[in-house]
Amino acid sequence: MKKTLILFAHPALEKSRMNRALLEGVSGLNGVTINDLYEKYPDYHIDIEREKALMKEHSHIVWQHPLYWYSTPALMKEWFDRVLQYGWAYGKNGKALAGKIVKSVITTGGSKEAYQSNGHNNYTMETFLRPLEQTARLCGMTYEEPMIFYGALHKDETELSAALERYRNWLLND
Ligand SMILES: Cc1cc2nc3c(=O)[nH]c(=O)nc-3n(C[C@H](O)[C@H](O)[C@H](O)COP(=O)(O)O)c2cc1C
Repeated sequence: MKKTLILFAHPALEKSRMNRALLEGVSGLNGVTINDLYEKYPDYHIDIEREKALMKEHSHIVWQHPLYWYSTPALMKEWFDRVLQYGWAYGKNGKALAGKIVKSVITTGGSKEAYQSNGHNNYTMETFLRPLEQTARLCGMTYEEPMIFYGALHKDETELSAALERYRNWLLND
């Protein structure tokens, strides 16, 4: 059975609209574990063994976060730096994560049009996400097509519901 671990990073959840709605909407789903990194590690001291054990227990991993400076919030980067260790996640004998599926679920302030070669941000999200894609690949994981929610600050209730539906469907079905 598909078991999904959502690694969630938002440093100001109390101010969040979209990520909070998405997270609340998928919490309690069968086979889904939420790992809220800023709640668990407000001091950035990540329990590496706990994180490794959680990763081992799940077949699918979601990296869910708002886009911050074309990348992840800082604690998620810290998570990569500390948890994905040589000899465990990659390198000689580093096969612990091989075969798992990873998917980014990301909200952006910018519109879809802004993420084009002729747009405000000059590059597509696919380009900005190359480091995450290659991180997954180096660890032997498959980086699935990301779920990007553009223009998160301007979504109305109908759009929020549709976004949540897409997310829930992926968690429950694919
Ligand atoms: C520190 C910071 C950096 C941000 N950087 C970007 C960015 O690079 N590109 C972008 O489209 N939006 C950027 N934003 C906007 C956020 O992505 C947006 O506020 C968020 O996705 C909304 O989701 P939320 O309601 O869950 O907070 C940034 C916001 C903050 C606070």
